[in-house]
Amino acid sequence: MFAQLFGGGPLIWKMPQASTIAPHIDLLYDFLWWTSVALLLPVTIVMIYFAIKYRAKPGDKSDTPHIHGNHLFEWGVSTFLGAIFLAVFIWGFVGYNQLHKPPQDAYEINVIGQQWVWTFQYANGKTDPELYVPSGLPVKLIMTSKDVIHSLYIPDFRVKWDVVPGAYQSLWFTATKPGSYDIFCAEFCGVAHSNMITKIHVLEPVQFKAWLDGVDPKLVSTASSGKTIFTSRNCVACHSVDGKVSKNGPTLKGLFGSVVNLADGSKVKADENYLRVSIMSPGTHVVKGFAPIMPTYQGMMKEEELTELIAYLKSLKE
Ligand code: CUA
Repeated sequence: MFAQLFGGGPLIWKMPQASTIAPHIDLLYDFLWWTSVALLLPVTIVMIYFAIKYRAKPGDKSDTPHIHGNHLFEWGVSTFLGAIFLAVFIWGFVGYNQLHKPPQDAYEINVIGQQWVWTFQYANGKTDPELYVPSGLPVKLIMTSKDVIHSLYIPDFRVKWDVVPGAYQSLWFTATKPGSYDIFCAEFCGVAHSNMITKIHVLEPVQFKAWLDGVDPKLVSTASSGKTIFTSRNCVACHSVDGKVSKNGPTLKGLFGSVVNLADGSKVKADENYLRVSIMSPGTHVVKGFAPIMPTYQGMMKEEELTELIAYLKSLKE
């Protein structure tokens, strides 16, 4: 309401609000903007007025009178400003958490950043340097980098998150208005950093499905590409995919999303990062009841292959 009435701070004036979170971010930004104006203006006006009124006149030799503080006034100001500060902190903290907790049923798209291009990878095997998403549905991006730190930034959605090598970061949003919007890399990542501009295309769900299923009949889903990798690397020698118990390694059936008991007595949730670490650095989380005999695949698998392999493991539901 505030944003619609007053337009907001100059930096976000007239920028489209193309996601469900955008109006919330703008409202917080407006609050910061208008409280700053409301505090700065009276202080500046009074300061200028006093500077003129109490200016030393020529020939005036009297000392400035010594004035003691006013406790009530000082505590009042501190409490008032402290309350504003706390409100902004809590407001921002709640929003930050929301930005990081996607709904369970969010549509997942893998994102790989590298110098100096983005690759968006869909479950059916389709990849594109531009991002296509359905409107009105929550979309979760699972992001990693092949080289240095990048940052995926969609200004019209008011979302941004760092994309870090060696781990998965996630970001989610619900796009509200069909159309095309800019994507920037917001982390300086080398000489051609400024070339990492691409587009996000928001399509009606029906059009999105047509785009996704269209064109290439040779597409292989990421999960079945992952299965090919799983077979060619002979992972099945130690890990069953049908729940059968092997003495070498735990079964992978129903693993994703479950809670795993580790040899050191701790528990960990099997999410994408857990699977990634278990493949790249198997000694990190040794599962209870098994010896640490799995070899590392660090440096032996491309990021695309790793996301495919993980897509396959995610498909091995209970
Ligand atoms: Cu990638 Cu800047």
